[in-house]
Amino acid sequence: EKGGYKHFMAKEIAEQPLVIADALRHYTGGGQSLRLPEELDFASIDRVTLVACGTGSYACHVAKYWFEQIAGLPAEIDIASEFRYRDPVLSPASMAVFVSQSGETADTLAALRYATGKVAQVVSVVNVPTSSIAREADLALPILAGVEVGVASTKAFTCQLTVLALMALKAGLDRGRLTPEAVAKQLAVLGTLPGLMSATLGLSDAVAQVATDLAKAQDILFLGRGTMFPLAMEGALKLKEISYIHAEGYASGELKHGPIALIDAQVPVIVLAPKDGLFEKTVSNMQEVMARNGKVLLLSDAAGIAEAGAGTWKTLTLPQVDPLWAPILYALPAQLLAYHTAIAKGTDVDQPRNLAKSVTVE
Ligand code: F6R
Repeated sequence: EKGGYKHFMAKEIAEQPLVIADALRHYTGGGQSLRLPEELDFASIDRVTLVACGTGSYACHVAKYWFEQIAGLPAEIDIASEFRYRDPVLSPASMAVFVSQSGETADTLAALRYATGKVAQVVSVVNVPTSSIAREADLALPILAGVEVGVASTKAFTCQLTVLALMALKAGLDRGRLTPEAVAKQLAVLGTLPGLMSATLGLSDAVAQVATDLAKAQDILFLGRGTMFPLAMEGALKLKEISYIHAEGYASGELKHGPIALIDAQVPVIVLAPKDGLFEKTVSNMQEVMARNGKVLLLSDAAGIAEAGAGTWKTLTLPQVDPLWAPILYALPAQLLAYHTAIAKGTDVDQPRNLAKSVTVE
C-alpha cells in the first residue's frame, strides 16, 4: 500500500513529479494550450478572493502573487475561519475560489456557503471530486493528486499550486495580458517541472543529513520573499506538524521588525532564495542573521549558492527554475526537511498527535 516506502508521506512526496505531470496533461492540450472549463472566465471579473485553511491557504497566498503579476487581477486571500466572521466586502462581479484537499473542511465549506449568491462565481479547487466543497461550488476543478493519506499535506499542495498557476494563466489570457503564444511559452516552462522535481527529490539524502542537526533545535525560522514567503510559512507548518519543533515562517523583510530578536547560535534559519529579482534583498536579510551568529541553511540554485553560500551553516542546491514557478519546486525541500527531521526525532510522521486529515468541525 505504501509502495515500498516507509511512510505514506514519503510515498506522496515521491509521487509529485507524476501527479504534477498528470494534472498538466489533463488541463492542457498537448502542453501547448489551456484546457480549463469554458465557464471559468476571468474577462469580466473585478477581483478574485481565495479562501482556504492551513496548507491550502498558503497555496492561495502564492496564487495571489500570480493573479496580480500575471493577470493584473486584484486578488485577496483569507483563511476560512476568519473570512466568514469578518463581514467581508464581496463584489458581485468577483470570483471566490475555495481550495481544499479533502473538500470537507468545515470552515472552508461554511465560507463557500457564505459567498454563494454574493459573488459572480464560486469555484472550488479540490482533491476529492465527490466532496461537499466540490458539489456546492458553481464549478469544481479537481487537482488530480490521487488519494493523500499522510496527515501532512504534500502532493495536494503542489497540485493545488499547479491548478492555480493554470487559472492565473487563463486569467492573463482572458484579460488580454497574455497572448496565446505567451501562454504556450509558460506551459512549456511548467512542463519542465516534473523533471526538475525528480532531480530535487535526489536531495533527500542531503536533507536527511541536515535534519539530524535540525532535530536538536527548539525553534526554527523559515524566511523568504515574494512567493517564497508563503513557502516559508508552509515549511514551518509542515515542520511543526510532524516533528513538533516550534517553527515560524516570515517574510524576510519583516525580520528586523521583531523576529531578529530570536536569533542566536541555537536557532537554525532556513532561507528559501532562488536566484530571482528579490535574491539580493533576501541575502542581505540572511547576512543580518549571520552577523548575529544565526545558523543559516540556504536553499537556492547553483548561481545563488555560488554568490551567497559563503559563511552559511549549510546549503542545499536545487535545480535552476523559472522564478515565477519556483514555489512549486521549493515545496519539495520544505516537505523533505519536515519529513527527515521527524524521522530523526522518531515522531509519527503519517499520524501526528492531535491532528486529523479532515477537519469537519469549526
Ligand atoms: C497541513 C494540512 C492542513 C490542511 C488543512 C486544510 O499539512 O494538511 O493544514 O491543509 O486542514 O485541509 P483541506 O485542504 O482538506 O481543506
